[in-house]
Amino acid sequence: MAKTDFINLADFTPEQLGDLLRRAIADKADFLAGKTVNSLDNKTLAMIFEKPSLRTRVSFAAAMAHLGGQAICLTQSDIGLGTRESGQDIARVLGRMCDAIMARTFSHQLVETIAAYSPVPVINALTDHSHPCQAMADVMTAMEHFGNVAGRTIAFIGDGNNVARSLAMLSAKLNINFVLACPQGYELEPTFIDSLHATGKDIHYEVTHDPAQAVAGADVVYTDTWTSMGQEDKKIHKQTVFAPFQINDALLVHAPAHAIVMHCLPAYRGYEITHEVMERFANVIFTEAENRLHFQRSLLNVLIAEGGF
Ligand code: CP
Ligand code: NVA
Repeated sequence: MAKTDFINLADFTPEQLGDLLRRAIADKADFLAGKTVNSLDNKTLAMIFEKPSLRTRVSFAAAMAHLGGQAICLTQSDIGLGTRESGQDIARVLGRMCDAIMARTFSHQLVETIAAYSPVPVINALTDHSHPCQAMADVMTAMEHFGNVAGRTIAFIGDGNNVARSLAMLSAKLNINFVLACPQGYELEPTFIDSLHATGKDIHYEVTHDPAQAVAGADVVYTDTWTSMGQEDKKIHKQTVFAPFQINDALLVHAPAHAIVMHCLPAYRGYEITHEVMERFANVIFTEAENRLHFQRSLLNVLIAEGGF
């Protein structure tokens, strides 16, 4: 059976993604009830990090340990991806020693290249283009909160970035309405919008420059840092441009009373979200972080122990 990589949500059917989310919720309940399985006994996951990480690194490492396997962390200073050695060669070496590769890189193409050369499954752990594992944990959290998510609305207030792309794609797949509120010039690119339409679904994607309008019909009000990793030179400029897009009490007055606030973290209090809003929705936001672990455990089981979808 061919290996399955988990790089682009666009490559999976709504049924595959929905099944994986329902399974992650069920597996989480089993895990929290103390039921463990050693399905990855003697298996290893190589984790490549070109950028910093807390949640992604710990959740993949802990998930491997829970399943009886081990994770090996390789930072850029360890392996010199693209400087000491090419992605093609690293992929082939790791593929001979490990059972799966997880990669967090700047370039999305680099993860695609690693996957093309790796004989074992490759997981996108965030690129400048997308962050699929984050979106899956986010929608898993929304499913736990609301039950059925079809027909619900996610209002993403902030930069049209990697997290926004993955959430928009997963929303398109699962019939979730997606509204992006961003300053002029920070929208998602037309080619990406084309890829949403290419899902063949009757998608509900909207972009606005008015955050109050965006949250008015929202079930989930979502935000992420205004300055993604690697864009630090734009930080000061963005703090000015994005200031009207902060999630604060004045904005949430316009949202339905049942709406929840989500954040993929790390959060920059006083910028994209206020301290007060962050603390009021801390239970949702830290469940969202915890669900990275539970989703990852199910994903690793599917890709490594079960040979893919
Ligand atoms: N949300 C997320 O991916 O966190 P890390 O960057 O800490 O892994
Ligand atoms: N958009 C952020 C997400 C961090 C998890 C970044 O790329 O830095």
